[in-house]
Amino acid sequence: MSDQPAHRADLRIDVAALRRNVGILAERARRSGARTMVVVKSDGYGHGAATVARAALAAGATDLGVASIDEGRQLRAAGITAPILAWLYAHDEDFAPAVAADLELSASSVAQLRAIAAAAAAQGRMVPVHLKIDTGLSRSGCPEELWPELVAAAAKAQADGDVEVAAVWSHLASADEPGDPSIDRQAARLRRAHEQARAVGLTPIRHLANSAAALTRPDLHFELIRPGIAAYGLDPVPQHGDHGLRPAMTFRSSVTMVKRIAAGESVSYGRTWTADRPVTLALVPVGYADGVPRRLSGALEVWLAGRRRPVVGRVCMDQIVVRCDDDEVREGDEVVLFGPGERGEPTAAEWADELGTIHYEVVSGMFRPRVTRTAVDEDPR
Ligand SMILES: Cc1ncc(COP(=O)(O)O)c(C=O)c1O
Repeated sequence: MSDQPAHRADLRIDVAALRRNVGILAERARRSGARTMVVVKSDGYGHGAATVARAALAAGATDLGVASIDEGRQLRAAGITAPILAWLYAHDEDFAPAVAADLELSASSVAQLRAIAAAAAAQGRMVPVHLKIDTGLSRSGCPEELWPELVAAAAKAQADGDVEVAAVWSHLASADEPGDPSIDRQAARLRRAHEQARAVGLTPIRHLANSAAALTRPDLHFELIRPGIAAYGLDPVPQHGDHGLRPAMTFRSSVTMVKRIAAGESVSYGRTWTADRPVTLALVPVGYADGVPRRLSGALEVWLAGRRRPVVGRVCMDQIVVRCDDDEVREGDEVVLFGPGERGEPTAAEWADELGTIHYEVVSGMFRPRVTRTAVDEDPR
């Protein structure tokens, strides 16, 4: 990967991989007669929301999903005109900017619905609203017992011309455990909620499937799927077979100094690693402030000069030290901390396993003040 000059700490975003991943998901949705909303919240899971949005729309996605209204407005400011759904608000959220930005809005309560309708009426606009039912995740979403009141209020707001009830939707708790009985239970609750909405004269679509359900449960695609992580090439259900996804984020740096140390010399704070023979070391200028977890000290490997090599001693705030034995390593050589794994480099999923977390957390936390992010399109259209 010598397509760029040496970087101190850079996230390389593979735009062609984003397109390919979304293409795989959109094709599965199409086979079910469903549309595809790609979730680009939290700055596109750390990949850059506008970059991901453009790639997703080019690859067959029709809609975008974000958590906050600000995230949706930032996409509009970047020139994205596709439908954008926002679903998570402050308790006293002002919906006027969302209405002005032509966002679609989720409503989990009568109070939210009324606030949205009032903002729409004030601007003389009609806002597409997605009514969210809590089918078992117990986060946002309307409790089942309050649902009849919410659909009745929504029918009235629609009759008044302030909102259009576009969808009834929910979110799965355990889609990444295919076969878990909660999945069918949640789907049944969504179907029931949808029937109740239809009974008061509404004609919304339904959406439920995150990446894991999009990949494993075509019967739950309904009219729209809502994948996030799979678009980034990270598989939430690797136990379910190879879905052909390719991780789009590579975290890389380059060697800033090479030196030999003698047997008996130690490396980094606390002298936790001591050379038992003379070795070549490569100093790499990334550390825990750049997203390399200090907790990986002693377990971290990087790809450098043609193969994986161990990081020795503690991960520091700004630097790590790589053991290169007697191999020839040069200042400026590329160092890959994680990537798609195709050359044998570590992956974000390996980091997550080592850290006892999920790859979602790894990639979404990588973009930091000293880290650059470079979108590369090796197959421009
Ligand atoms: C409401 C909602 N829908 C869909 C997604 C996408 O989920 P995933 O990244 O597992 O595909 C998320 C992300 O957590 C979400 O919060």
